[in-house]
Amino acid sequence: MKIFLIGFMGSGKTTVGKKMANGLSYDYFDLDHFIEQKEKKSVRKIFEIMGEAYFREQESKYLRTISDDKNCVISTGGGLPCYNNNMDYMNNNGLTVYLKMKPEHLFSRLKNGRKNRPLIKDKNDQELFQYIVDKLNEREFFYQKSRVVVDGFNLNMNDLLEKIRSYITQ
Ligand code: S3P
Repeated sequence: MKIFLIGFMGSGKTTVGKKMANGLSYDYFDLDHFIEQKEKKSVRKIFEIMGEAYFREQESKYLRTISDDKNCVISTGGGLPCYNNNMDYMNNNGLTVYLKMKPEHLFSRLKNGRKNRPLIKDKNDQELFQYIVDKLNEREFFYQKSRVVVDGFNLNMNDLLEKIRSYITQ
């Protein structure tokens, strides 16, 4: 089973994804990292040089080609579920898991991690908080299409693994 981790920037998809892959003995892939390797540029540079529309095309393309591996965990970028029917694609090709978090918690995680994130790198604290509130509001519609929704802030990894295993063995 392919497991797709969904969530806003800063929701912990990479950390949780690695732990989940480890717990399930699955391979782990990070879609942003995969794009960076393929395009030979950082996500930040791709945004700067080719623009966001190009990045959205590439992430949708690579989502569909990242792995033939039947059993793997894939962390996706925070915007990916909102473009090109990507939620439908992921729901038809694996198990989607949304790490849901409140804006306050996302803010506290993101305020020191702006530098390499093109969409927030130039925002001050107040602008960042407002951006999180507005974007989350807009994206929640897509994120909520996930089959599994968990509290990303108070996450119990063992409980989550148990839940995932129950889907895998269904
Ligand atoms: C984005 C999130 C980033 C990355 C890009 C755009 C977004 O990934 O894909 O900077 O639109 O929210 P993370 O969610 O892994 O930070």
